[in-house]
Parts: sequence; C-alpha cells; structure tokens
Amino acid sequence: MKHLQQIEPGLNAYTVSFDSSLLNTLRTMFDRSLRERLNREGYAYLFAGMEQVNIQLKLEELQFHVTSYGTAPLLWISSNNAHTYTLFRSFMDELDIMDDIKELVDFDDHIEVYCCFFVVGKKMDRQTWHNDYVDGANGYTLITPLFDLDKSHGNLMYKDELSAIKSYEYKTNEAIIFGDGFEHATEPYPETDTLRVMLSFTFGTDKAEYWDTLKETIGNQSNYMILPCGHEKGTCQCCAA
Ligand SMILES: [Fe+2]
Ligand SMILES: [Zn+2]
Repeated sequence: MKHLQQIEPGLNAYTVSFDSSLLNTLRTMFDRSLRERLNREGYAYLFAGMEQVNIQLKLEELQFHVTSYGTAPLLWISSNNAHTYTLFRSFMDELDIMDDIKELVDFDDHIEVYCCFFVVGKKMDRQTWHNDYVDGANGYTLITPLFDLDKSHGNLMYKDELSAIKSYEYKTNEAIIFGDGFEHATEPYPETDTLRVMLSFTFGTDKAEYWDTLKETIGNQSNYMILPCGHEKGTCQCCAA
C-alpha cells in the first residue's frame, strides 16, 4: 500500500491524508450553491430526520439530489448530472488512492467511482449501526470532513474485531475509507448551528457481476449513479440481473 493506512489490524478500514487544496472546488461549490439554501427556515424540515425526503436542486449547470431516509437526521446530497459528478470525481482522481484500492477489490481494468455526496446534518439523536456493503461487494466508502468540524459534531463509531465499540475522530485533510464487514455509526451529537458537512464517495470494482451484491446497499442512495460497467444507471443492460 502506497498511501492507505489500516486503522487497526483485521479491520477493513483505512485512512489517507491529503493536501487541503484538494477540497477547494467542492468547498466553493457547497458554499456558493447549498449552504445558504440549507440554512433557510423552509428547509429545516429536511434535517428533522422523521420523514423520507427526495428533492432535486438545480443551480445553473449544477444539479443535486437530496435524500433523507427518514431513519436518521442526515441529508444525502448527491451529484445529479454528469457535470456535477465530474467536479466531485476530480477529488478522487487527485487523491491518488486507486492503486491501493486495486489491492483490496477484484477488478478488471480500473476502480469505478459510483456516487458522490455531501452528507449534511445538524444533529444526530440515535446510533444507527450498519455495514455499508454486503460481504463480497467489492465496494468502498470514503468519508472526510468538507469543512472543519465543530468540537460537538459526532465522530465515527465502529466495532473492532472483538465487537468492542471504538471511535475514529474525523480530521480535516484526512479521509477514512472502509468496505464490507466494517460496522459503524455516526456518533450522536446535540443540535448545532453549524452544519456538519462531510464529503463522501462510493467506489470499487468495475466488474458488472458484482452489481447484484453492490446494489443491495448502494443501489438506491442516489438518482444519478455510475455502475461498475462505467455507464450511468438506467442507460444500459450490462449489469442487469
Ligand atoms: Fe455508513
Ligand atoms: Zn453498462
């Protein structure tokens, strides 16, 4: 491994540090097109976490899809067109971790980036333990703070090999990357005025045969998504079950 550091032996989770300039484009995107809007009173209901939400936001050539599952007060704001996806994706290209990821997944030619998100919250009132992937999915999730977190903002709780609960402290300019078998939850935190904004990606194998397993958890997280075959979801038959 060139850049990734396993967080502890036996766990399918790694960290990587990076230069803060890699975040510039996405910080500007968030500040210019989303921050003011999300702080409007009319959008407060989005952060309540009590109802399922699916809305589109369009700002000139940028397009986002906003999802909340109604199970926790978190907004998943995904890129919703090729232009927005490409701007997000350049972060992953510059991060230069794909050679390391190739040591972790079964792939054919390259690692595909499926989906890009801002994950935004103002509070977390419960522990929602889960794995992002079914075993053998050959997919990974990356999470890193887009802006410095408040001291009160929740970190990442996870279970070690013996199922003991531990905490990974999010750091500016460090990303955590994890795959199947890594059980985790956002650490609960009280309501804050400062938005907690994380940058997140899902990525992994380019083999269509794994889509069946991948889609069990990431198939409906967004509207716009690139499949393992490299095509936009809904435009091809490569990954059809
Ligand atoms: Fe997760
Ligand atoms: Zn395809």
